[in-house]
Amino acid sequence: MMCGIIGYVGYRSAVPIIVEGLKRLEYRGYDSAGLSVISGSGITLLRAVGPVAGLEKKITALSAGACGIGHTRWATMGAVNEENAHPHSDCTGKIHIVHNGIIENFGELKAGLESRGHLFLSQTDSEAIAHLIEEESAGCDSFADAVRRALKKIRGSFATVVLCASNPDTLIAARHESPLLIGVGDSENLVASDATAVLSHTDRVIYLEDGDVATITPNSVSISDMDGAGVCREIVKIEWSLDEAEKSGYEHYMLKEINEQPSAIREAIMGRISPAEPIIDIGLGEEDASGLKAITLVGCGTSYYAGLAARHFIERCTGLPVNVEIASEYRYYGMPKSGDLVVAITQSGETADTLAAVKQAKKAGARVYAVTNVIGSTITRIADRVMLTRAGPEISVASTKAFTTQMVVLQLLALRLSQLTGNISAKEVADHSSHLHRLSRLVQETLERRDAVMQAASGIAEKTAAFYIGRGQNYPIALEGALKLKEISYVHAEGFAAGELKHGPLALIDENTPIVAIVAGDPTYEKTLSNIAEIKARGSPVIALAFDSDTDVEKQADIVLRIPDAPFDVAPLLCAVTLQLLAYYVAKARGCSIDRPRNLAKSVTVE
Ligand code: F6R
Repeated sequence: MMCGIIGYVGYRSAVPIIVEGLKRLEYRGYDSAGLSVISGSGITLLRAVGPVAGLEKKITALSAGACGIGHTRWATMGAVNEENAHPHSDCTGKIHIVHNGIIENFGELKAGLESRGHLFLSQTDSEAIAHLIEEESAGCDSFADAVRRALKKIRGSFATVVLCASNPDTLIAARHESPLLIGVGDSENLVASDATAVLSHTDRVIYLEDGDVATITPNSVSISDMDGAGVCREIVKIEWSLDEAEKSGYEHYMLKEINEQPSAIREAIMGRISPAEPIIDIGLGEEDASGLKAITLVGCGTSYYAGLAARHFIERCTGLPVNVEIASEYRYYGMPKSGDLVVAITQSGETADTLAAVKQAKKAGARVYAVTNVIGSTITRIADRVMLTRAGPEISVASTKAFTTQMVVLQLLALRLSQLTGNISAKEVADHSSHLHRLSRLVQETLERRDAVMQAASGIAEKTAAFYIGRGQNYPIALEGALKLKEISYVHAEGFAAGELKHGPLALIDENTPIVAIVAGDPTYEKTLSNIAEIKARGSPVIALAFDSDTDVEKQADIVLRIPDAPFDVAPLLCAVTLQLLAYYVAKARGCSIDRPRNLAKSVTVE
């Protein structure tokens, strides 16, 4: 399950605070939402199928209760219905829980609980937590002890917050392999899956670690391990303002985030490359490059494509073999060795498959670096070195600014490793650095061509399929462009290496299949032009992405989307930005739910 969790305990009415937090967490799942609040008469439970707005409509009278929990669900076990919406309670109705994760030994636990008389009201695995706590409470005088004992029986992953009628001003929160943090306020405290849900109340947070159990009251937070021994966690100040996490007047988060790329890229290189000297500072020293034999990049979805896009550049810079692996494959079939460097690429830092791949690599003695956007995320606690992308919060499910900043940070990594290994000259490092310095301006110029992209989008919006082609460094950009289109517009889209067309995919195309051909910055440009000619011969409309100075492509393509002339190593980023806009405008023309595409969620914290 990848769900959003929020809890509040303090002096204010909990319901509006929980609802606001749930709205900010909706990107984590929006199949159903619910909340439980303690008031004088006991615990009030409210749940609704669909997004948080549906739950909000059901709130008729505000409970004065100042302690409560909320949850927004992305279903994995049990259908999307009200019974399966969280919170779930025990048989007495006095213990309510919200949960994000998967209980692997659920079948066994449920059978045992039922044989001892517990009645399950939902099909979820999560409900077992409430019943287990109920059982453990019997022989326990501390609520936290009962939770700890119950959680020890669970195999799997969880972030959970527990509410108990007999402790009306206490929340117990625990995590194991699912994210959870505490927002520390004055005479009030919050707990949530991520910082955006607490930021309007406090910018001070404590990231819980695996195995932590926190007892939270309005005036205190005490954290222990699963055996009850106290642990110390520091309070971190969040630098993101709430304003940054909101839409700032754009119709969709996705468009806002696309437009934030010039500043995100500036941030990503800030203080890391010096315009005067060829020095790359991303926190790596001599020891980080010594003895390196091979590099493997791992990630999922868009983050995997960022790895593919960086591959040739890293190989050229370092002279080392570079593999790029899908994390869900690598975790089972990868062959990490000591002497390898495994670089995990993950916006959220919480993707279950990527975390598992990295744990596997560490076990084999490989070095692990992380390229991530989220400070304090799980990957940052596993990796030996962390390189933040500094893109700011990405709320839209479709990744945009995270992708381009990942590409920038991977280039910085390549340059730094090449410096440390002495593989390329200082002059080459300086040249690449100056390209990265120009990149933000070039992305801004690319964004200013949005009107042409919007027009081209209208030609795709009425079609059922579109194909993207590119060669070399543009091939991963074709894959990423197609992913963006399919996930937000539901137009069937695939990316192909241009040379592969005649080995099969050509059979699919006709005059109703637009082809998006990326030729800007392609050293095998003429070959790709021949591929375009083959496509034209079959009557398909061709939209080409080409440099301003390109005068040949317009003889072949029906529409040319212009990219500012740019150095070879940064041109793919500009094409990626144009393809993000293209997907966005197609989805808009088709009236799709752009920020929250069907069946998808932002953070995939289960396998
Ligand atoms: C697509 C998209 C996903 C993510 C993937 C990995 O637009 O966003 O494909 O890239 O789920 O997520 P992270 O980068 O958080 O590991």
